[in-house]
This record gives sequence, C-alpha cells and structure tokens, in this order.
Amino acid sequence: MDLLNLAELEQAAAERLSTMAHDYYAGAARDGITLRGNRAAWDRLRLYYRVLVDVAQRDLSTTLLGQHMALPILAAPTAFQCLAHPDGELASARGCGARGAGMVLSTLSTVAMEEVAAVARGPLWFQLYVYRDRAVTRALVQRAEAAGFSALVLTVDAAIIGARETDARNRFHLPDGMTAANLVGAGMAEIPAGEGGSGLERYVRELLTPRLTWADLDWLVAQTRLPVLVKGIVRADDAAIAVAHGAAGVIVSNHGGRQLDGAPPTAEALPAVVEAVGDQVAVLVDGGIRRGSHVLRALSLGADAVLVGRPMLWGLAVGGADGVSGMFSMLAAELDEAMALCGCPSVAAVPRDLVHA
Ligand code: FNR
Ligand code: LAC
Repeated sequence: MDLLNLAELEQAAAERLSTMAHDYYAGAARDGITLRGNRAAWDRLRLYYRVLVDVAQRDLSTTLLGQHMALPILAAPTAFQCLAHPDGELASARGCGARGAGMVLSTLSTVAMEEVAAVARGPLWFQLYVYRDRAVTRALVQRAEAAGFSALVLTVDAAIIGARETDARNRFHLPDGMTAANLVGAGMAEIPAGEGGSGLERYVRELLTPRLTWADLDWLVAQTRLPVLVKGIVRADDAAIAVAHGAAGVIVSNHGGRQLDGAPPTAEALPAVVEAVGDQVAVLVDGGIRRGSHVLRALSLGADAVLVGRPMLWGLAVGGADGVSGMFSMLAAELDEAMALCGCPSVAAVPRDLVHA
C-alpha cells in the first residue's frame, strides 16, 4: 500500500466500495455532530511532551485482562465486513493477527464465528447483541466460549438503532448470498431491504431487545466464564454500576457517532470514567482515533487501550488482510513516533499529564 496515512486509506476505500456499503460504513446518526466531535476532540488535546528521556528502545505492547497485546489498539466490532472484501471477517482476523492486534468480532458478522476463530492468531473477543429470544442469545454466548473467544463485549448503546438517514435513503440491505452468518441456525440471518427504509433498522427493531437493563448484565456474567466488557458507556456513574454488576472492563464509546447524535466526544467522556473505575477494571475507548498521537492521548487520559472501527474497514476494502495489517502498521508507526517525541519508552511509561483534560 503506497499510502501515507488513514485519510488516504479512507479515500482509497471510498473508490472501491459500493455506494450502499460506503454510506453504511461512513454513516452516522442524524447530523453527524458526534461523529465529527470524536475526531475533533482528540485533535484539540495538546501534548505536553517530556524531554531528555532515553527513548532509543520503545515498547508498544501491553497486557489487557491478562492477555498480551502487541499493540494497545484493537479492531472494534463492525458488522457486515463481506461488504468490504469477499473474505470479510476472515481477512480482518488474518490482518489483525499479522500485526498482533486484538479483534472484536460483531454478532452481525458475515462469516460465522467458528470460522473466524479458526484463523485468528491474536486475542479475539466476541461482541454481543441481545436478541429478544433469550435462547438465541445464550447460544451465541456458548458458541463464542466453545470457539475460544477470550472475552465478551456487551454493547449497551443500541436499545434502538440510531437514525442513519443515508441508510434509509439507500434502503440498506445485504446483497444476495450475504448473511448475518452467526444467526443461520436461528433463522435470523437474512437482512432484506426494509419497507421504505433501512433493512438493518427493521432487523434490529424486530429481533433485538429494547428492554436491556442492568439485570441482563447480571444474567450474562452468570452465563459465562469469560470476562464481560460493557461497550457504549459515556458516564462515570454508569461505569461504576457496570463494575458493581460484574463487568471486567468498560469501553467508553458512542458507537462512532452512529447512535445518539449529540452524545459527547469520547475524549471528553473518558477522564471521568477513568476516575470512577480505572483502578478496578480495564478501560478502553473508541471513536475518531485516526492518528497514533490520538492513541497516545487516550493512554495519557488513562485508557488501557483503544479500538478503531472504520479505519479497519478501509484497510479491508483496499487490501484485504494486507490492508488491515497495513492500517495497523501505520497507526503503530505513528504511535511509536509520538511516544519517542513525548519521552515515553513504553505504554506503561505514558504519564497522565501529557495532556490536560
Ligand atoms: C460499528 N460499530 C458496532 N459496534 C458494535 O458493538 N457492534 C456492531 O456490530 C457494530 N457495527 C458497526 C458497523 C460500522 C460500519 C461501524 C462504523 C461501526 C461501532 C464500532 O464498534 C465502534 O464503536 C466505532 O466504529 C468507533 O468509531 P470509529 O473508530 O469508527 O470512529
Ligand atoms: C451499526 C450496528 C450494527 O452500527 O452496530 O451499524
């Protein structure tokens, strides 16, 4: 890939994706205020770099939930990756594995979780959407455990799906032959066009539960021996409640601006969550991370790691597994450079006062 940065990768991906796929990946809720706010908030944070630290050797690796990670960067769960590349989530898993990046597989993957687990080399976590049918949900959890996933990520910011107006206009649906592959056995794998709107909106409205409460987190924690992370938190009090209900980690996220437009940028929400629970559980953050220096800012605010959503899809669209590993390599090189220039030889050595929240 003769590309300099993620912005060029985004451009290259836009040239390859169908309109429906492009608009779905790029899409945000309503006016996109939160989408734009995510990136802008990372950019705004100034880096008060340290000087005269020996940074000849730099180590980007870290440990999360007892799992070694070559990078403090994971692939966020994103649905329907076969829209980007024929090998879909298989190519993503191979690309993440090549770079040692962790991957979170969406419930709504277009390749079945067992097949993805079979090719994964790095840490692999399963993102869970809770179906109205509890037996269907339980079966997903049991399959993820059996397939060797090492954590569950419960997404809690999608009681209903956010209003992505372009998807309604495009009557978003999966092309013939492409399915939500984990749900084939449940008979819930098809995503046809909605009646006059997004087929995904209809799918979520009809099949996923809008009744999720903290009691369901208790239920999930009791169901599984895997650590459960709660994704979609922007408040310190919710983070504390999640921990009280057994969460092993929280992911500060607004779903990449795709759910509630007007939600705070995650860089602004992160410090209070770290303050509330950062010494008890893992705290991760996603949304608008487009430069290695954004990763460093997140680490300085107290995050243990970050996730990237759309950039992984761009890499996948442009170059399959190589595109995904290339995207992580670009971010890693930028993070390495930022660490060197900020006097941080390792992730653990990133001081809390590099940025002033
Ligand atoms: C997502 N996201 C998401 N989250 C989740 O928990 N389950 C899912 O299936 C999906 N699907 C999905 C599809 C697409 C196309 C996008 C862009 C995002 C949200 C995702 O995990 C993450 O929170 C954001 O993508 C992070 O923001 P950036 O990195 O895309 O700015
Ligand atoms: C999305 C859902 C599937 O953001 O999480 O499109």
